[in-house]
Amino acid sequence: MRVIIREDPQQVSVYIAEYILSRIKAFKPTETQPFVLGLPTGSSPEIIYKILVQRHRAGEISFKNVVTFNMDEYVGLPRDHPESYHSFMYKHFFSHVDIPPQNINILDGNAPDLVAECASFDARIARYGGIELFLGGVGPDGHIAFNEPGSSLASRTRVKTLAYDTMLANSRFFDNDVNKVPRMAMTVGIQTIMDAREVVIVATGAHKAFAVQKGLEDGVNHMWTLSALQLHPHPLIVCDRDATLELKVKTVRYFESIEQAGTDARTQGPPLVYRPRTYVPAPLPAKKVASGMTPTPDSTPVKVPKDLRINTELRRAMDEDELTPDSMSSRMVDSAIGGLDEALKNDLIFDRMGARLMTL
Ligand code: GLP
Repeated sequence: MRVIIREDPQQVSVYIAEYILSRIKAFKPTETQPFVLGLPTGSSPEIIYKILVQRHRAGEISFKNVVTFNMDEYVGLPRDHPESYHSFMYKHFFSHVDIPPQNINILDGNAPDLVAECASFDARIARYGGIELFLGGVGPDGHIAFNEPGSSLASRTRVKTLAYDTMLANSRFFDNDVNKVPRMAMTVGIQTIMDAREVVIVATGAHKAFAVQKGLEDGVNHMWTLSALQLHPHPLIVCDRDATLELKVKTVRYFESIEQAGTDARTQGPPLVYRPRTYVPAPLPAKKVASGMTPTPDSTPVKVPKDLRINTELRRAMDEDELTPDSMSSRMVDSAIGGLDEALKNDLIFDRMGARLMTL
């Protein structure tokens, strides 16, 4: 695990944008061997996208040979709704760079068969040889993508019921009305993220501090799905100072000292060498369609290479939904969601330290 700490969200975003650009350039992607990038939505990555767009406009980077897979999408929200993740991605990124439309992969939250859509998504990732770098955010309850507390750490792309805390956090995009937030989403699984060769997480703001602390300092735990990254060979978490507020001083100093040592951000040691790919992506098979119609290869069942161990078994995700606690906000005693205990609210206590007092 590598942690980079910067003073504010702007500096965090510059670091991550530069990092992504350097990885794409080092990879030297081509049409037949594209760089496969996993992408998030949310407030946290907005400045990152802005910087990537600026760099593209300055002629420093092309996304022609980049293939993207988005982490998640709401179920049932029209694609052109301003808060759909489709809209978000085109508004903040895709419309401003030279990525070919066929290289963009976003889950279809209105697909007639959501389970088949999830399986097709995993199969497409596999067909491209897996994800090179997955950029993600983190929810205040420690979720990555929409892998809510209690999500299986072995999960792959599937339909999830959103935790009440997440709906509450995301209601700011829906007129602050929690009833307008979709109750379900499709999301890559924890294992989908873990399969990426590299994972970079952006965490900014004091409301992420508790999740960062649980993810970094406590053990691997499905109730804080960020913590699964402790088992990944190359995870990188980039935080602003506020997001470190719940970490021990010595944890912060430790990670800062690693950065000062100037080692590779991913290995904490010698530079990471790109491993040769074991799988050469095959061209997408075209679906048989009536004459005059455009083929739609995305929904075509595909053969998954064995070495990637992608589980495309079609399961009734709705019937077998994983445990999603309705509200876990009591865990986040000092977070933006949890708030302080009523009895303490009137006292002059720094809310960042409230969690300690409540357990005395
Ligand atoms: C949503 C998304 C996550 C994102 C999280 C945090 O729940 N599904 O992928 O990481 O929000 O978003 P923000 O960056 O707006 O805090």
